[in-house]
Amino acid sequence: MIPDKAPQEDVFHCSEDLKKESHIPSFEKYKELYTRSIENPDEFWGAIAKDFFWKTKHTGCFLDYNFDVTKGEIFVKCMEGATTNICYNLLDRNVHERKLGDKIAFFWEGNEPGDDLTVTYRELLQKVCRFANVLKSQGVKKGDRVSIYMPMVVELVVAMLACARIGAVHSIVFAGFSAESLCERIIDSQCSLLITADGFYRGDKLINLKLLADEALQKCRDKGFPLKTCIMLKHLSKEPEAAGRQSPPAKRACPDLEEKRKVKKTRPVPKVPWNPDVDLCWHSLMGGAADECEPEWCESEDPLFILYTSGSTGKPKGVLHTVSGYLLYAATTFKLVFDHQPDDVYWCTADIGWITGHSYITYGPLANGATSVLFEGLPTYPDVGRMWQIVDKYQVTKFYTAPTAIRLLMKYGSDPVQKHNRKSLKVLGTVGEPINPEAWQWYHGVVGEKRCPIVDTFWQTETGGHVLTPLPAATPTKPGSATFPFFGVVPAILNESGEELEGPSEGYLVFKQPWPGVMRSVYGNHERFEATYFKKFPGYYVTGDGCRRDKDGYYWITGRIDDMLNVSGHLLSTAEVESALVEHKSVAEAAVVSCPHMVKGESLYCFVTLNDGVAFSQALEAELRKQVREKIGAIATPDYIQNAPGLPKTRSGKIMRRVLRKIACDEKDMGDISTLADSSVVDELFRNRCATTV
Ligand code: WTA
Repeated sequence: MIPDKAPQEDVFHCSEDLKKESHIPSFEKYKELYTRSIENPDEFWGAIAKDFFWKTKHTGCFLDYNFDVTKGEIFVKCMEGATTNICYNLLDRNVHERKLGDKIAFFWEGNEPGDDLTVTYRELLQKVCRFANVLKSQGVKKGDRVSIYMPMVVELVVAMLACARIGAVHSIVFAGFSAESLCERIIDSQCSLLITADGFYRGDKLINLKLLADEALQKCRDKGFPLKTCIMLKHLSKEPEAAGRQSPPAKRACPDLEEKRKVKKTRPVPKVPWNPDVDLCWHSLMGGAADECEPEWCESEDPLFILYTSGSTGKPKGVLHTVSGYLLYAATTFKLVFDHQPDDVYWCTADIGWITGHSYITYGPLANGATSVLFEGLPTYPDVGRMWQIVDKYQVTKFYTAPTAIRLLMKYGSDPVQKHNRKSLKVLGTVGEPINPEAWQWYHGVVGEKRCPIVDTFWQTETGGHVLTPLPAATPTKPGSATFPFFGVVPAILNESGEELEGPSEGYLVFKQPWPGVMRSVYGNHERFEATYFKKFPGYYVTGDGCRRDKDGYYWITGRIDDMLNVSGHLLSTAEVESALVEHKSVAEAAVVSCPHMVKGESLYCFVTLNDGVAFSQALEAELRKQVREKIGAIATPDYIQNAPGLPKTRSGKIMRRVLRKIACDEKDMGDISTLADSSVVDELFRNRCATTV
């Protein structure tokens, strides 16, 4: 499957300099280890597991599994019998065994330039222990679910690791999601406690997070799910004002991270509503908490976290990851894909609210004792050179971002990049969506000055870590290809009948066997897990992505082949947006398709059929946009809304999205539309098409 020799032509080879210090310095070495990882996973992963702390060792084989629905329930068990604690491995092991206590874990860089702080491994351990004790004092126990809705602050990492320390299961909800989405996720995972912050700024825009959290908790109460406790971090306000009622304690009992911030913000601070029956202040709780907290020793397959991802039915799926396999996989992919070295300064620009932040800001880097930048702000604030200014400020060596950010910055040309030095950079990564070769070339040529290999990492919330990816000093790259599988991963390409295709081919991307980091279930709905990923092609994990393999064996992701779309690297389901639209009283029916977009990759083109007697207007359009933002979040805001008095349907009444996609993209060649019940609808829709900018 993987070629004997890497191709020599049309590819980018990495520099000899990088090979000198690399963990995997050649394609031959990659091939040798890959073969070992597939033929003898026990030995391969067993050697890696030795670097970590196990309270008790595992018994039996490294991975036990069934990936075939026709043979019974799907399961994956990694290192059965072992007990450990992931937080202990990330922090205590680094502080006590590896003597990295004084090493910086995070350079936190706030939204405003100059607003920053540093946190060492020792400090992080102390904060996490304190907060773990806080959670315990609030009655949180092993296995309980805790919802976290926070901005990109160090305390978010503290909160998630405190959960992991006591064996509680964190469910982080990206702070760009709406109150409705937060409520839905809290109820689905039956969380007992919510952790949030007063608010934060994204560029110039204030996000009043506590207001949204309160709204979500009210919605939970209305649905018969009252949450008892909400812990609020004061990120913006020194002294949050109480809205009429008893205020939280005014003075902080212990000096904390906020006090280390050099620049105090001068921006307006929101009035924070305070409900004394539910709300507790992070700082006063931390002040009263002890510095030590014995970790809870967890079984390998105990749940570690739930993270929601869009599902094609519209209802998000709670992807469940477990302790040991996820630890090993996040740690190993981080170490090898970014070729981590002890003096690296690594920066992943993703939000911790997404899987990329879970695996490659928190778990992977900390498991390796890495120093990372944690950035709260935007790539374009206060100007479009911010990323490169930060790279220079911290002398970042390894940089990981999304194609959408690259395309956005590309629009401003090379000047804002070249104003900054960037000589520290060694490896550049991308994730989240296919990167077009043009953006790849710009990233490589302008940002990395042709010096830095690009790792185009393909993976999913479900896969826990990279599954198709180059290794920086080993894999010759082709712009736009995620190249080859990571260790332990066996991809295949299937045709519609489920037959494996050999050699150059295109079809469904599937995986033939599990690797340690693959998801274990959909929280509370194992049947949905089996139906979504394993039913279509028994014996395989189905990614939902299309893929092409070229003559040299390189894999090229061609995009989603289900009803999902990827807007600025965020996976959304068309059904999710459609159901938000039809909830509006004026809308009878809605159909949403994707339309190419130069910066965002894909954009949302919505067709709405209005109820009888309702007229389409700009005001209604604005209301519908607002409705989607409130139901899902700003990331799902429709780009185009077209009034569609009729939708193209088959005689059986099924909406023909294929036809709508053509209309959205202004492609007149419809292909075969003989199944269409009423073809005049199509002409009408073409006439009233929204003017799109691709
Ligand atoms: C897409 C993000 C092409 C893909 C880590 C996948 C990519 C979905 C790449 C998962 C890449 C991610 N090249 N497509 N390098 N990385 N994708 O769950 O469609 O937010 O199925 O995980 O993003 O998105 P998710």
